Amino acid sequence: MSQQHAQKLLDFIDNSPSPWHAAMSTAMALEKKCFQRLDERDAWKLAAGGRYYVVRDGSSIIGFIIGDGDPIKHGFRIIGAHTDSPGLRVKPNAAYTDGLMVRLGVEVYGGPILATFTDRDLGLAGRIVVKTGPAPTDIDTQLIHFDKPLVRIPNLAIHLNRDVNEKGLKLDRQEELPMMLSVLQEDLPAQQQFRAIIANKMDIEADAILSWELHVFDTQPGCFFGPDDQFIANGQLDNLASCHAGLCALLDEAVLDPKTTNLIAYFDHEEVGSQSSKGAGGRFLPDILERISIALNLDRESQKRANANSFLLSADMAHAYHPNYKKFYDGEHKVVINSGPVIKINSNQRYTSESVSEALFARLCEQAEVPYQKYVHRTNLPCGSTIGPQIAAQLGIRSVDVGNPLWSMHSARESAGTLDHHYMIRVMTGFFAN
Ligand code: CO
Repeated sequence: MSQQHAQKLLDFIDNSPSPWHAAMSTAMALEKKCFQRLDERDAWKLAAGGRYYVVRDGSSIIGFIIGDGDPIKHGFRIIGAHTDSPGLRVKPNAAYTDGLMVRLGVEVYGGPILATFTDRDLGLAGRIVVKTGPAPTDIDTQLIHFDKPLVRIPNLAIHLNRDVNEKGLKLDRQEELPMMLSVLQEDLPAQQQFRAIIANKMDIEADAILSWELHVFDTQPGCFFGPDDQFIANGQLDNLASCHAGLCALLDEAVLDPKTTNLIAYFDHEEVGSQSSKGAGGRFLPDILERISIALNLDRESQKRANANSFLLSADMAHAYHPNYKKFYDGEHKVVINSGPVIKINSNQRYTSESVSEALFARLCEQAEVPYQKYVHRTNLPCGSTIGPQIAAQLGIRSVDVGNPLWSMHSARESAGTLDHHYMIRVMTGFFAN
């Protein structure tokens, strides 16, 4: 069972090379189970037992099943995660020449380990916006996915960079990250050449392309490794592993509690701070909860009461213990791969877990017969954060931050435990079942 779950996760990631694709993969899985898409511009009529989903600006998505019990008493149960991963983004006027080489300039999105993007078989994926008619509003957004290697950042030979192993691979973001695309064709300027590649791929006229958001990803498919396939490796495990686990839980109708409104809420822009119209720090989730409450005829006080009975399980990956780097871990809070989901704790509220939510999650693990671990960052290192604190602060609901152990977070290729993914699905399924 754990192999199957992990294989499905690897497939989910391979089909989701950008946050727009991650939202689409999630939407497709929901559609298969008869979830109905809602448009935020329409008036909504929601029914108890109804299944719905909403996408905001293509890359944040909330899916939910309306409970048939008292909405005030049962509140909302929410699994939150993020659809984006750190990496490189292609600039608007990306293509330029140097010598005869055409390169693509990139911005750095969030905090990737830049060196891991060198010498990899990189593809591009994201969305482009095209002109469809004479009026300014005649535009169409299309997803684009170059699933074969298209660009590359070749390393400098060690003969020209003798102390790379002593000093580490440092890359100047402006000068040393541009990606090799092609050798210049004489009759075609670099930018036109790149636009023609996109136009060809999408079967459109190059002149119709107005804009794009293109994410650089590693085309190597996910894999198992280790003698018994105990481990998995892929890009974007942070945080598509959490998205996939929550999705599996919401779609497990055999055990879903029908009384409570259960939601998954996946946000773009976590890696850049979540402060955007579709980010976890924005109004997306508060708006959707409010609209569900309105559709269920709750007055303002009842909405607040429903919120007070709600719980957020904020899921993002945790730093697995790496025995080669002992000194970076607190000795009593090592979280080990394949030893179960991690409760993330930080007294400075970089994570939302407090003793009560921590205890509730521990009980969920006990009930699911899944081991769990507790992580605290080293006291002398600054701690990261995630979507949990931003959502909990806005909604005022109880929340716990959890996640599975992960090696090399923010590498182009991260690794994690096969068993842990299965464990997380079991706990999340139990969360929606209670
Ligand atoms: Co993350």
